[in-house]
Amino acid sequence: MKKKILSGMRPTGPLHIGHLVGALKNWTKLQDEYECYFMIADWHALMSEYEDPERLKQYSMDMMLDWISCGIDLSKSSVFVQSHVPEHLELAMTFSLFVPLGWLERNPTYKEQLREIKGRTLTTYAFLGYPVLQAADIALYKANVVPVGEDQLPHLELTREIVRRFNTMYGEVMFPEPEALLTEIPKLLGTDNRKMSKSYDNYISLGENPDDIIKKVARMITDPKRIRLTDKGHPQKCNVFSYYKSFAPEGMVKEAEDWCKNAFRGCTECKKIMAEVLIEYLEPIRKKRKDLEVNKEEKIIGPLMKCLDKVRAEAGKNIDEVKKTLHLFHTIKKDEI
Ligand code: TRP
Repeated sequence: MKKKILSGMRPTGPLHIGHLVGALKNWTKLQDEYECYFMIADWHALMSEYEDPERLKQYSMDMMLDWISCGIDLSKSSVFVQSHVPEHLELAMTFSLFVPLGWLERNPTYKEQLREIKGRTLTTYAFLGYPVLQAADIALYKANVVPVGEDQLPHLELTREIVRRFNTMYGEVMFPEPEALLTEIPKLLGTDNRKMSKSYDNYISLGENPDDIIKKVARMITDPKRIRLTDKGHPQKCNVFSYYKSFAPEGMVKEAEDWCKNAFRGCTECKKIMAEVLIEYLEPIRKKRKDLEVNKEEKIIGPLMKCLDKVRAEAGKNIDEVKKTLHLFHTIKKDEI
């Protein structure tokens, strides 16, 4: 039996090349080895965007199309929207019965977000419980492995503690303790060398048009020690070089390293070439996306309904076990009344 994977993303805006390198590339590789569940975490998105939800549905649909354009295959993986499966909330409620407030208040990601995210009121009951719903997402399918970025490790540790407590409290090992699967590739920084993020406007979206790619790459910061064309550069310290590593064919990465170290080419030229590499890399994704938009019914809606049936069946089965464990009055059968 294949091990199970669950991962998710919050639909808070258009996907960019950071998501592609940091997560999607990796997800597509996992599809054969594991039984995969990939979830659009719309309830999690609402936890920070609840005051302004108008674009949520659009973002979710766009995310779905982007995932598939990047190689997530609906015939291999179960792709679904969290809010289509209400059992997530039921399991989150279950876990919230016994999760101590201290675990949540101490969570470093929570503390950081309260500090960093401006313009939103995040001192809410739901936002404090963010990791409880995330634990429910994972446990609902009895997932063994969760591919995530480093920033999610505290959440995953909490998930492990939560399922451990459930298992010991009710004396049966219902849920496996999930392992993190860290993506090897380091985070791709934004065009201004900060973390790539929608809110910093330093990202290149998956559907970015070629002219904008050229403009954005041209503005990128290179090795600050390389001032004149004849100065030798340090590719390891240059963000543009990390883009070569992510998007250029292997031989070209070596070449680019060479240009820079030996001052064969200047940064402006190097960036022009990078932009072309990126345009070419994104071209098949753009094409596939167009095709999906034209053939939505056949290529998206139908296969998604199938996924949803499978996911709901699995979630329903597992939540029934939970309800039995909790002695909830979960069915009205004669022998139970
Ligand atoms: N918190 C994750 C993020 O912001 C999204 C997420 C929700 C998730 N539920 C999950 C990730 C379950 C992995 C597993 O990226």
